[in-house]
Amino acid sequence: MHGFHYLDGSLHCEDMPLENLAREHGTPLYVYSAGTVRDHFRRLDAALAPLDHLVCYAVKANSNLSILSLLAGEGAGFDIVSAGELFRVIQAGGDPAKCTFAGVGKTGEEIRFALERGILAFNVESEPELDRISRVAVSMGLQAPVCVRVNPDVEAGTHKYISTGKSENKFGIAFDQIPEVYARAAALPGIRLRGIQTHIGSQITSAKPFAEALAKMRPLVETLRDRHGLEIFSVGGGLGIVYRSSLASGNPAWWAGPGRDEHPLTVAAYAQTVTSALDGLGMKILFEPGRFLVGNAGVLLSRVEYVKRSATKTFVICNAGMNDLIRPALYEGWHEIAPLREPASSANIAPADVVGPVCESGDFFAQDRPMPPMESGDHFAILSAGAYGFAMASTYNSRPLPAEILVEGGSAKVVRNRQTLEDLIAGEC
Ligand code: LLP
Repeated sequence: MHGFHYLDGSLHCEDMPLENLAREHGTPLYVYSAGTVRDHFRRLDAALAPLDHLVCYAVKANSNLSILSLLAGEGAGFDIVSAGELFRVIQAGGDPAKCTFAGVGKTGEEIRFALERGILAFNVESEPELDRISRVAVSMGLQAPVCVRVNPDVEAGTHKYISTGKSENKFGIAFDQIPEVYARAAALPGIRLRGIQTHIGSQITSAKPFAEALAKMRPLVETLRDRHGLEIFSVGGGLGIVYRSSLASGNPAWWAGPGRDEHPLTVAAYAQTVTSALDGLGMKILFEPGRFLVGNAGVLLSRVEYVKRSATKTFVICNAGMNDLIRPALYEGWHEIAPLREPASSANIAPADVVGPVCESGDFFAQDRPMPPMESGDHFAILSAGAYGFAMASTYNSRPLPAEILVEGGSAKVVRNRQTLEDLIAGEC
């Protein structure tokens, strides 16, 4: 299920016309569908039912308190990477005892903060980090629960900036060193070995890399389980989503075309791969999905300011920029662009660049994309912006952060106010 569709020629989020929200709250504006987040969580959780498991939502994808609170209500755990994310989870009503703490650079303060709040486990990414966690735990009279993150040296087949499981990536500890690291960790006074972890990358759209990583990991996991009494195996996140043709209905003339025939990995196929790879392991399996739960549940609304035509190009200049959604600039991310008024089937489709106002040539949402005509004042939605959208937004060019709205059926709630110019300079002198 996917909460965005055309109804009577107007793009809706669930039962709410997006034009109403754009008019009432202004743009750029992030809009999330609560029903879609819930539906994606439930579908994944149900598909994984054959395993004793816990879905720990990767907070980095979208850390708005309302999204966290909604997922906490569904029983989710959380995968966090900073004290800030743990603070958010607790503020949103999440349970620290269901939180795993990843990241290569945890500071002493962050380790202490997490130990004080009683997290489920640290996912440890280096030997110096193990030593530091042990020292902090001993100073508090505790033993820290730990999983070590394994770098399995597997090709994830995704953009190089979001591939994490190759030996040249900074994440985890090399596969071959793991038994030795566990032996050393077992002797550290402040460490309690609870499990093992791996994560090979993000936006993975085929089952093969997951199958390969788990097949490589399983014998190692079994050995360490028996040797150290491990109870947890966290298999990370990475389940990819559809970025093209992701509207549930509406088939305007510009819709079909090259590149819009993505065949993503389905939840069922992912679950099948993982459940068969881990069958009979007898451990609690943790999953850390971010994008899958929230990616297609959010859009970024924008307004066309100017249309500039040159001999070779048409630039649709809008009021959202790379500071609001950086994925196209940073990862060559492709996001569907859908006018809030459904284009007529007779609309003249012509290539255009959809660009923002930021002073960088990388500030674009689409290049040479077949688009229906757009005029100053028209609104459109950039789809699949619920993951790594607002969470990666900045105030570059001194542009205030956009507002965020959560839609539930026919009602909408502001879940983050738009920043004001005063907010922009707060704390400076
Ligand atoms: N677990 C770990 C240890 C991770 O590093 C990540 C993502 C996840 C789970 C969640 O992965 P997901 O299920 O969302 O694929 N900003 C980039 C994506 C960065 C992913 C970072 N790590 C983007 O917009 O594509």
